[in-house]
Amino acid sequence: MKLTTLLLGLLMLIINNIEIQSQKDDAKIEKRVKELLSKMTLEEKVGQMTQVTIQAVSKKQGTKNQHHELDDAKLEEAILKYHVGSILNVYDVAHEAEYWHEVITKIQDIAQKTRLKIPVIYGIDAIHGATYTKGATLFPQSLAIASTWNKDIARNIGEITSIETRASGIPWNFYPVLDLGRQPLWPRLWETFGEDVFLASQLGTEYIKGAQGDDISKPDKLATCLKHYVGYSFPINGLDRTPAWISERMLREYFLPTFEAGILAGSPTIMVNSAEVDGIPGHANYHLLTEILRDELKFNGLVVSDWEDVKRLYTRDRIASSPKEAVRIAVMAGIDMSMVPYDFSFYDLLLELVKEGKVPMKRIDEAVSRILRVKFQLGLFENPYPDKELIKNIATKEHTNANLNAAQESIILAKNEDDFLPLKRDKKVFVTGPTANMLSPLNGGWTITWQGNEESLYPQEKNTILEAIKSKVGEANVKYMEGCSFDADINSNEAYMEAVNSDVIVLCLGEPAYCETPGNIYDLTLPKAQIDYATKLLNSGKPVVLVLVEGRPRVITEIAKEVKSILIAFLPGMEGGNAIADLLYGDANPSGKLPITYPKSPNGITLYDYKPLESFDSNKYDPLFPFGHGLSYTKFSYNNLKLSSDKIKMNDKLIVSVDVENVGKLKGKEVVQLYLTDLYGSVSRPNKQLKGFEKIELNPGERKTVTFTIDKSHLSFIGIDNKRIVEPGEFIITVGELKKHFFVE
Ligand code: BGC
Repeated sequence: MKLTTLLLGLLMLIINNIEIQSQKDDAKIEKRVKELLSKMTLEEKVGQMTQVTIQAVSKKQGTKNQHHELDDAKLEEAILKYHVGSILNVYDVAHEAEYWHEVITKIQDIAQKTRLKIPVIYGIDAIHGATYTKGATLFPQSLAIASTWNKDIARNIGEITSIETRASGIPWNFYPVLDLGRQPLWPRLWETFGEDVFLASQLGTEYIKGAQGDDISKPDKLATCLKHYVGYSFPINGLDRTPAWISERMLREYFLPTFEAGILAGSPTIMVNSAEVDGIPGHANYHLLTEILRDELKFNGLVVSDWEDVKRLYTRDRIASSPKEAVRIAVMAGIDMSMVPYDFSFYDLLLELVKEGKVPMKRIDEAVSRILRVKFQLGLFENPYPDKELIKNIATKEHTNANLNAAQESIILAKNEDDFLPLKRDKKVFVTGPTANMLSPLNGGWTITWQGNEESLYPQEKNTILEAIKSKVGEANVKYMEGCSFDADINSNEAYMEAVNSDVIVLCLGEPAYCETPGNIYDLTLPKAQIDYATKLLNSGKPVVLVLVEGRPRVITEIAKEVKSILIAFLPGMEGGNAIADLLYGDANPSGKLPITYPKSPNGITLYDYKPLESFDSNKYDPLFPFGHGLSYTKFSYNNLKLSSDKIKMNDKLIVSVDVENVGKLKGKEVVQLYLTDLYGSVSRPNKQLKGFEKIELNPGERKTVTFTIDKSHLSFIGIDNKRIVEPGEFIITVGELKKHFFVE
């Protein structure tokens, strides 16, 4: 027998053993769930389904200088009287990990006093790192992670976020957001992995793998939560928590696949869409929550509501005519746990409903089993307590380096006229604009506080863009003036004078930190004050490098032509300042690519995978920068696009290869993107769709062959009867500028 065959056999054996072991573990957990359930009273069960916020069991909120304070009596009432299964959130401000340990220990101590000693599962929004742990590594936000197009980075961010969140004593993270970012006005766009199904599915999957590994009970892993199932990200008017109208075909083509990928990756929990689709609020939608999620997608984990959304079926949506009816509708639609979150009304009402026979015991048992299963999977019954030893793993040097690298790879060089960048270190630079000297715009929401806009709470040792530039080239060559705020002039006349005396202007514009509904806007254009300020500086005749720090693509067309270079940073996180300075001065080579279309005008929101009608007659896809765009300080050339065949059967695999060469003078990274076009179809087919990508690094003169495999899953689409199908016919593969046709029989 050949050595390779032997090794392969050994590998199969190991994989089989792992599978058998995990099936045994699953069976063990199922047995424990059943046994425990059989001992529980109705009250204990309904309590498990109740989740309250930490505010509900606290006396005082936290401030910059003072810890938040738990209310022992309220906490005991919640756990001992109401048997609550879960607590979430922070009371306003991030805590030190040590303090989190005290909080979680106190909670679990009380849970240990209950009859069945069922641990409480604590949940948190660790959105770009451990949001609410003081000093934690805070990474680029999702849209910026997506801009890296780097699966290793997505996985590594998952790993580190888990390490630091679990080290804080918290085992459940309400992340990743797998909503698709196809409405640029939506204030949560930056929480998504962008507009493309394939890119978002791949990065979401990697993040989950990194966060969970193969065993979420390990001390450096946690349970992820896919959110917000489903359709939340596509509000017609662009405002947060407003109606979406999404046909079943569209839902299945664009919005469900990312969640399907997250389920396949093993996420054990899902949070529900806070708004409504086709007139049915997410929390009342039996078709989505049960028929599709359970029966079709085979999700067997826990479904948690979003904040107060069960109540809102009555108070906001008027789908229910009383709070009690709201509870019945939500539970029967498929909600297993209600984020109530301020009181115990859900508990009281659900108890009544079961006693009156309006919610069957079977449904309660099903929901509670799912909750207990996650608690068992997390190993909370064995040890619900935080481990002091783990605290040293928070914000290590290694994590900070990973963060800087992620930030560097996330930033997109969208324009670089005459190779203006990188800058020489001896140039006199005038740094200006509202995002130049603040950390909060670099981080966005879910940073230290919910809105992320408390600049005074940010770690002083981290660099703003201005500070990073100064530390790189020395104070002497750098001048700073704010010039304008996000929406008003401050001292633009003085700034103009300073600009005239400089060699180059680094103009940092964008958005302040915001989160959810407070981030609503009514015009995608960058506020007039910032455009006016840019225009004034451009009149100085000095070259302008525009740095955009923003959560969504604010329209900048009026000034884009005149500026020399544009760096789109989105929300690059706590190392964003350093990363921007590194890219400006060539200490890092840009490799970010747009994960969304950057529109030219507020209404020009055609996306890259547009339909034939959208490029027919005078219609066209004409963005400022297209999806997938991003420059480098080196150049890459694409050659030898090859297909394994120009004719395949539907179940065959097609192997695609292409040679990519670095023909410039610097080492650099390139994202090789493969697009597929299905030329004719019974449902109109997109212009092209991303079906493969790989980020590679090449030295000058170096060449690599990149290979992709295309199979049925890539060729398929949602057909006339709303089922996934493949139709025979002609297809085109595009990589770079190269194209090849093939036929499917
Ligand atoms: C958000 C969720 C978040 C939850 C808990 C809600 O307002 O929509 O994304 O997980 O709050 O903080």
